[in-house]
Amino acid sequence: MIKDIQNLILQLKKQKDVCILAHSYMSEDICEIADFTGDSYALSVKAKTAPQSTVIMCGVRFMAETVKLLSPQKTVYLANPTAGCPMAEQMDKELISQVKENYPNYAVVAYINTTTDLKTVCDVCVTSSSALKIIKAMPEKDILFIPDVNLGTYVKNQIPEKNFKLLQGGCPTHAKITREEALKTKNAHPNALFLVHPECRPEVVELADYVGSTSGIMDFAEKSNAKEFIIGTENSIVQHLQFKCPDKLFYPLSKDLVCHNMKATTLVDVLNCLNGVGGEEIVIDEKTRAAAVKCIDKMIEYGG
Ligand code: 13P
Ligand code: SF4
Repeated sequence: MIKDIQNLILQLKKQKDVCILAHSYMSEDICEIADFTGDSYALSVKAKTAPQSTVIMCGVRFMAETVKLLSPQKTVYLANPTAGCPMAEQMDKELISQVKENYPNYAVVAYINTTTDLKTVCDVCVTSSSALKIIKAMPEKDILFIPDVNLGTYVKNQIPEKNFKLLQGGCPTHAKITREEALKTKNAHPNALFLVHPECRPEVVELADYVGSTSGIMDFAEKSNAKEFIIGTENSIVQHLQFKCPDKLFYPLSKDLVCHNMKATTLVDVLNCLNGVGGEEIVIDEKTRAAAVKCIDKMIEYGG
Protein backbone atom coordinates (compact mmCIF):
# COMPACT_ATOMS: atom_id res chain seq x y z
CA MET A 1 0.00 0.00 0.00
CA ILE A 2 2.73 2.51 1.00
CA LYS A 3 4.80 1.41 -2.02
CA ASP A 4 1.75 1.93 -4.30
CA ILE A 5 1.27 5.51 -3.10
CA GLN A 6 5.00 6.17 -3.39
CA ASN A 7 5.02 4.87 -6.99
CA LEU A 8 2.02 7.04 -7.85
CA ILE A 9 3.80 10.09 -6.41
CA LEU A 10 6.99 9.32 -8.34
CA GLN A 11 5.02 8.99 -11.59
CA LEU A 12 3.01 12.17 -11.04
CA LYS A 13 5.94 14.31 -10.03
CA LYS A 14 7.80 13.27 -13.18
CA GLN A 15 4.76 13.91 -15.39
CA LYS A 16 4.06 17.30 -13.82
CA ASP A 17 7.73 18.32 -13.43
CA VAL A 18 7.45 18.89 -9.68
CA CYS A 19 10.34 19.01 -7.22
CA ILE A 20 9.62 17.56 -3.76
CA LEU A 21 11.70 18.91 -0.88
CA ALA A 22 11.56 17.16 2.49
CA HIS A 23 13.03 18.43 5.75
CA SER A 24 15.03 15.79 7.65
CA TYR A 25 12.24 15.62 10.26
CA MET A 26 9.84 14.06 7.72
CA SER A 27 9.01 10.38 8.05
CA GLU A 28 10.98 7.75 6.14
CA ASP A 29 8.21 7.15 3.53
CA ILE A 30 8.25 10.85 2.57
CA CYS A 31 12.06 11.15 2.51
CA GLU A 32 12.13 8.19 0.10
CA ILE A 33 10.06 10.01 -2.58
CA ALA A 34 11.74 13.43 -2.17
CA ASP A 35 14.11 14.90 -4.75
CA PHE A 36 16.05 16.36 -1.89
CA THR A 37 16.12 15.99 1.90
CA GLY A 38 18.12 18.07 4.33
CA ASP A 39 18.28 20.71 7.03
CA SER A 40 16.90 24.24 6.76
CA TYR A 41 20.06 25.63 5.18
CA ALA A 42 20.42 22.91 2.55
CA LEU A 43 16.74 23.23 1.63
CA SER A 44 16.94 27.01 1.29
CA VAL A 45 19.93 26.71 -1.06
CA LYS A 46 18.29 23.88 -2.99
CA ALA A 47 15.14 26.00 -3.35
CA LYS A 48 17.14 28.50 -5.36
CA THR A 49 18.69 25.99 -7.75
CA ALA A 50 16.03 23.30 -8.35
CA PRO A 51 15.22 23.31 -12.08
CA GLN A 52 11.50 22.45 -11.76
CA SER A 53 8.90 25.23 -11.95
CA THR A 54 6.74 23.74 -9.19
CA VAL A 55 7.96 22.80 -5.72
CA ILE A 56 6.17 20.93 -2.93
CA MET A 57 7.64 21.53 0.52
CA CYS A 58 7.21 18.77 3.09
CA GLY A 59 8.04 20.61 6.26
CA VAL A 60 6.60 23.62 8.05
CA ARG A 61 5.24 26.90 6.68
CA PHE A 62 8.35 29.09 7.04
CA MET A 63 10.26 26.55 4.91
CA ALA A 64 7.73 26.78 2.06
CA GLU A 65 7.81 30.57 2.40
CA THR A 66 11.61 30.50 2.11
CA VAL A 67 11.30 28.61 -1.18
CA LYS A 68 8.84 31.20 -2.50
CA LEU A 69 11.02 34.10 -1.32
CA LEU A 70 13.99 32.71 -3.25
CA SER A 71 12.04 31.55 -6.32
CA PRO A 72 9.13 33.96 -6.89
CA GLN A 73 8.59 32.68 -10.43
CA LYS A 74 7.92 29.14 -9.14
CA THR A 75 4.64 27.74 -7.89
CA VAL A 76 5.28 26.62 -4.32
CA TYR A 77 3.03 24.44 -2.20
CA LEU A 78 3.14 23.54 1.48
CA ALA A 79 2.05 19.88 1.47
CA ASN A 80 0.08 20.20 4.72
CA PRO A 81 -1.24 23.74 5.38
CA THR A 82 -1.65 23.09 9.13
CA ALA A 83 2.10 22.53 9.63
CA GLY A 84 3.49 25.66 11.26
CA CYS A 85 6.49 26.25 13.52
CA PRO A 86 5.41 27.69 16.90
CA MET A 87 8.80 29.41 17.28
CA ALA A 88 8.35 31.20 13.94
CA GLU A 89 5.08 32.71 15.18
CA GLN A 90 6.43 33.95 18.53
CA MET A 91 7.62 37.41 17.47
CA ASP A 92 6.20 39.88 14.99
CA LYS A 93 7.44 42.82 12.97
CA GLU A 94 5.96 45.40 15.33
CA LEU A 95 7.72 43.95 18.40
CA ILE A 96 11.11 43.75 16.68
CA SER A 97 10.77 47.25 15.19
CA GLN A 98 10.20 48.53 18.74
CA VAL A 99 13.17 46.59 20.17
CA LYS A 100 15.38 47.91 17.34
CA GLU A 101 14.70 51.47 18.52
CA ASN A 102 16.48 50.62 21.79
CA TYR A 103 19.41 49.00 19.95
CA PRO A 104 19.86 51.23 16.91
CA ASN A 105 23.41 50.12 16.11
CA TYR A 106 22.73 46.39 16.35
CA ALA A 107 22.42 44.18 13.27
CA VAL A 108 19.25 42.10 13.51
CA VAL A 109 20.06 38.44 12.89
CA ALA A 110 17.02 36.21 12.48
CA TYR A 111 16.93 32.45 12.73
CA ILE A 112 15.30 31.20 9.51
CA ASN A 113 12.45 29.87 11.72
CA THR A 114 10.64 33.24 11.42
CA THR A 115 7.71 34.51 9.34
CA THR A 116 8.17 36.33 6.02
CA ASP A 117 6.70 39.45 7.58
CA LEU A 118 9.26 39.44 10.39
CA LYS A 119 12.13 38.88 7.94
CA THR A 120 11.29 42.24 6.31
CA VAL A 121 12.78 44.05 9.35
CA CYS A 122 15.85 41.79 9.76
CA ASP A 123 19.36 42.27 8.33
CA VAL A 124 20.69 38.73 8.04
CA CYS A 125 19.11 35.30 8.29
CA VAL A 126 20.85 32.20 9.72
CA THR A 127 20.05 28.53 10.16
CA SER A 128 21.32 26.22 12.87
CA SER A 129 24.07 24.96 10.56
CA SER A 130 25.10 28.37 9.22
CA ALA A 131 24.76 30.65 12.27
CA LEU A 132 28.35 30.48 13.53
CA LYS A 133 29.95 30.94 10.12
CA ILE A 134 27.66 33.79 9.10
CA ILE A 135 27.81 35.81 12.31
CA LYS A 136 31.62 35.46 12.33
CA ALA A 137 31.70 36.71 8.72
CA MET A 138 29.47 39.74 9.42
CA PRO A 139 31.33 43.04 9.77
CA GLU A 140 28.98 44.21 12.57
CA LYS A 141 30.08 43.63 16.17
CA ASP A 142 26.71 44.20 17.83
CA ILE A 143 24.11 41.52 17.15
CA LEU A 144 20.42 41.42 18.10
CA PHE A 145 19.63 37.71 17.72
CA ILE A 146 15.99 36.57 17.34
CA PRO A 147 13.92 34.58 18.23
CA ASP A 148 15.69 31.52 19.74
CA VAL A 149 17.43 32.30 23.03
CA ASN A 150 19.04 28.82 23.09
CA LEU A 151 20.58 28.99 19.62
CA GLY A 152 21.51 32.60 20.44
CA THR A 153 23.26 31.55 23.66
CA TYR A 154 25.15 28.79 21.85
CA VAL A 155 26.37 31.24 19.17
CA LYS A 156 27.19 33.91 21.75
CA ASN A 157 29.37 31.47 23.71
CA GLN A 158 31.28 30.51 20.55
CA ILE A 159 31.85 34.11 19.41
CA PRO A 160 32.92 36.01 22.55
CA GLU A 161 34.41 38.85 20.50
CA LYS A 162 30.92 40.11 19.52
CA ASN A 163 28.17 41.70 21.67
CA PHE A 164 24.85 39.88 21.68
CA LYS A 165 21.39 40.95 22.74
CA LEU A 166 19.06 37.93 22.95
CA LEU A 167 15.27 37.76 23.21
CA GLN A 168 13.37 35.02 25.05
CA GLY A 169 11.92 32.93 22.20
CA GLY A 170 12.56 29.30 21.35
CA CYS A 171 11.39 25.88 20.24
CA PRO A 172 8.87 24.40 22.68
CA THR A 173 9.86 20.87 21.64
CA HIS A 174 13.63 21.14 22.17
CA ALA A 175 13.46 23.58 25.08
CA LYS A 176 11.31 21.31 27.28
CA ILE A 177 14.16 18.81 27.73
CA THR A 178 15.84 19.40 31.10
CA ARG A 179 19.43 18.75 32.15
CA GLU A 180 18.11 16.11 34.62
CA GLU A 181 16.43 14.21 31.79
CA ALA A 182 19.59 14.46 29.67
CA LEU A 183 21.73 13.14 32.56
CA LYS A 184 19.28 10.29 33.11
CA THR A 185 19.51 9.25 29.44
CA LYS A 186 23.30 9.59 29.49
CA ASN A 187 23.51 7.43 32.62
CA ALA A 188 21.35 4.78 30.95
CA HIS A 189 23.74 4.68 27.96
CA PRO A 190 27.22 5.43 29.34
CA ASN A 191 29.03 4.43 26.11
CA ALA A 192 26.91 6.57 23.80
CA LEU A 193 28.06 9.85 22.27
CA PHE A 194 25.58 12.67 22.89
CA LEU A 195 24.63 14.67 19.75
CA VAL A 196 22.53 17.77 20.32
CA HIS A 197 20.64 20.41 18.33
CA PRO A 198 21.45 23.96 19.52
CA GLU A 199 17.72 24.65 20.06
CA CYS A 200 18.12 22.66 23.31
CA ARG A 201 18.76 24.51 26.58
CA PRO A 202 22.38 25.63 27.22
CA GLU A 203 22.64 23.31 30.25
CA VAL A 204 21.78 20.38 27.94
CA VAL A 205 24.02 21.58 25.07
CA GLU A 206 26.87 21.80 27.62
CA LEU A 207 26.73 17.99 28.04
CA ALA A 208 27.06 17.28 24.31
CA ASP A 209 29.89 15.59 22.43
CA TYR A 210 28.67 17.26 19.23
CA VAL A 211 26.34 20.24 18.59
CA GLY A 212 24.83 20.75 15.15
CA SER A 213 21.88 20.97 12.80
CA THR A 214 19.71 17.99 11.90
CA SER A 215 21.98 17.14 8.94
CA GLY A 216 25.08 17.85 11.01
CA ILE A 217 23.95 15.32 13.61
CA MET A 218 23.21 12.72 10.92
CA ASP A 219 26.57 13.23 9.17
CA PHE A 220 28.45 13.04 12.45
CA ALA A 221 26.76 9.78 13.49
CA GLU A 222 27.22 8.18 10.07
CA LYS A 223 30.95 9.01 9.88
CA SER A 224 31.81 8.34 13.53
CA ASN A 225 33.59 5.14 14.56
CA ALA A 226 31.48 5.07 17.73
CA LYS A 227 28.68 2.52 17.95
CA GLU A 228 26.11 4.20 20.22
CA PHE A 229 24.55 7.65 20.10
CA ILE A 230 21.97 9.65 22.06
CA ILE A 231 20.12 11.92 19.63
CA GLY A 232 19.21 15.31 21.07
CA THR A 233 16.77 16.44 18.42
CA GLU A 234 13.39 15.44 16.96
CA ASN A 235 12.93 11.69 17.19
CA SER A 236 12.51 11.13 13.43
CA ILE A 237 16.31 11.51 13.23
CA VAL A 238 16.70 8.49 15.53
CA GLN A 239 14.69 6.41 13.07
CA HIS A 240 16.47 7.70 9.92
CA LEU A 241 19.85 6.97 11.49
CA GLN A 242 18.81 3.50 12.60
CA PHE A 243 17.85 2.68 8.97
CA LYS A 244 21.05 4.21 7.57
CA CYS A 245 23.39 2.58 10.10
CA PRO A 246 21.91 -0.76 11.20
CA ASP A 247 25.21 -1.74 12.84
CA LYS A 248 24.98 1.19 15.29
CA LEU A 249 22.52 1.95 18.11
CA PHE A 250 20.60 5.21 18.46
CA TYR A 251 18.66 6.34 21.54
CA PRO A 252 16.26 9.29 21.79
CA LEU A 253 17.28 11.93 24.35
CA SER A 254 13.62 11.85 25.38
CA LYS A 255 10.51 10.10 24.10
CA ASP A 256 8.88 13.55 24.25
CA LEU A 257 11.19 15.08 21.65
CA VAL A 258 8.44 15.04 19.03
CA CYS A 259 7.44 18.04 16.90
CA HIS A 260 3.75 17.57 16.15
CA ASN A 261 3.90 20.16 13.38
CA MET A 262 6.63 18.26 11.59
CA LYS A 263 4.61 15.07 12.08
CA ALA A 264 1.50 16.62 10.45
CA THR A 265 2.55 15.92 6.84
CA THR A 266 1.72 12.47 5.45
CA LEU A 267 2.46 10.67 2.21
CA VAL A 268 -1.21 11.11 1.25
CA ASP A 269 -0.88 14.89 1.71
CA VAL A 270 1.89 14.83 -0.90
CA LEU A 271 -0.26 12.76 -3.26
CA ASN A 272 -3.27 15.07 -2.77
CA CYS A 273 -1.12 18.11 -3.37
CA LEU A 274 0.17 16.63 -6.65
CA ASN A 275 -3.43 15.85 -7.64
CA GLY A 276 -4.54 19.43 -6.94
CA VAL A 277 -6.85 18.45 -4.08
CA GLY A 278 -4.63 19.33 -1.13
CA GLY A 279 -1.75 21.47 0.02
CA GLU A 280 -1.69 25.26 -0.04
CA GLU A 281 -0.09 27.47 -2.61
CA ILE A 282 2.20 30.03 -0.96
CA VAL A 283 1.43 33.55 -2.16
CA ILE A 284 3.57 36.52 -1.11
CA ASP A 285 3.13 40.00 -2.56
CA GLU A 286 6.20 41.29 -4.41
CA LYS A 287 6.88 44.25 -2.09
CA THR A 288 6.97 41.99 1.00
CA ARG A 289 9.00 39.37 -0.84
CA ALA A 290 11.62 41.85 -2.00
CA ALA A 291 12.01 43.20 1.55
CA ALA A 292 12.12 39.75 3.20
CA VAL A 293 14.45 37.99 0.76
CA LYS A 294 17.32 40.43 1.40
CA CYS A 295 18.23 38.78 4.71
CA ILE A 296 18.24 35.29 3.13
CA ASP A 297 20.37 36.52 0.22
CA LYS A 298 22.80 37.92 2.81
CA MET A 299 22.94 34.49 4.49
CA ILE A 300 23.76 32.80 1.20
CA GLU A 301 26.33 35.53 0.39
CA TYR A 302 28.12 35.20 3.79
CA GLY A 303 27.69 31.40 3.80
CA GLY A 304 29.53 31.01 0.46
P1 13P B 1 17.64 22.53 11.06
O1 13P B 1 18.18 23.89 10.78
O2 13P B 1 18.61 21.66 11.79
O3 13P B 1 17.08 21.92 9.86
O4 13P B 1 16.46 22.70 12.13
C1 13P B 1 15.22 23.24 11.80
C2 13P B 1 14.30 23.04 12.90
O5 13P B 1 13.16 23.42 12.84
C3 13P B 1 14.82 22.40 14.08
O6 13P B 1 13.86 22.24 15.03
FE1 SF4 C 1 9.68 24.62 15.03
FE2 SF4 C 1 10.74 23.28 17.05
FE3 SF4 C 1 9.17 22.02 15.34
FE4 SF4 C 1 11.62 22.81 14.62
S1 SF4 C 1 11.09 21.27 16.14
S2 SF4 C 1 9.73 23.05 13.44
S3 SF4 C 1 11.78 24.74 15.75
S4 SF4 C 1 8.58 23.67 16.73
